[in-house]
Amino acid sequence: MAVVLENRCVGPEVYRMRLAQTPSTPGQFYMLRPLEGAGDPLLGRPISVFDCVEGDSVFLYKVVGRGTKLLSRKREGDEVAAIGPLGNGFPLEDANLTLIGGGIGIAPLYYLLKEHGRLFPARKRRVYLGYSGESFLTEDFAALADACKVNIGGFVTEDVDFGLGGLYCACGPTPMLRAAKREAERCNTRLLLSLEARMACGVGACLGCSCETLLGNKRVCKDGPVFPAEEVLL
Ligand SMILES: Cc1cc2nc3c(=O)[nH]c(=O)nc-3n(C[C@H](O)[C@H](O)[C@H](O)COP(=O)(O)OP(=O)(O)OC[C@H]3O[C@@H](n4cnc5c(N)ncnc54)[C@H](O)[C@@H]3O)c2cc1C
Ligand code: FES
Repeated sequence: MAVVLENRCVGPEVYRMRLAQTPSTPGQFYMLRPLEGAGDPLLGRPISVFDCVEGDSVFLYKVVGRGTKLLSRKREGDEVAAIGPLGNGFPLEDANLTLIGGGIGIAPLYYLLKEHGRLFPARKRRVYLGYSGESFLTEDFAALADACKVNIGGFVTEDVDFGLGGLYCACGPTPMLRAAKREAERCNTRLLLSLEARMACGVGACLGCSCETLLGNKRVCKDGPVFPAEEVLL
């Protein structure tokens, strides 16, 4: 159980929620379940850590269905069932970093950007954010990046130069990830993808979140959600 310290709307159906005492590293996620009476909803929802402040994880989520709607109704002082931190997360490497986020897929990239800046201040950080409609939190990213480009209504991957070296990380809709993977392979660039899948247990037990890879089926919750782009079959 974790206490809600903040939960407010920061964009079109997008909320930022801070939960007390939920440590994490960049790219990890929690299974969050709003408690609305006995077993409702039964399963937690996987939500990435957007930021971590003084041991509290901050989450950025879009209301798309029942679970996220109930989460959005939580007020300061309410409790949420929070299982985590889960998943492997992004590596923090002493190399230039390029981040590509699409829509709510920007969520796991901010904490990575912040930690990379803290650990490797001399390195360059470039960010590309793509939105199909209204943008959100672009200033937060721009404040921490050497360059931040925002694309609204187009293909964010078309803005990215995949030939600059260093590490590239992407999260967003599957067509965006597919395009990023194709370009990274063309330029022989190292790219990591944070994948999404429907999840039931979140801890590797139910196999409900399998994804196809060159090494056989893997669990997004336990083996990922971060995978080398060349490994996954999208
Ligand atoms: C590792 C991981 C990290 C995630 N991080 C975030 C995050 O930081 N912020 C955020 O807003 N969302 C994130 N998601 C997606 C989020 O888990 C789903 O949007 C959420 O579970 C929907 O629950 P719901 O009850 O509101 O919607 P439901 O009623 O369950 O579904 C509503 C609609 O959303 C679609 N949907 C549900 N779950 C997913 C999913 N996992 N992937 C793609 N489509 C889905 C359904 O097909 C349906 O169309 C993440 C998912 C994973 C696997
Ligand atoms: S959600 Fe159960 S194994 Fe991944």
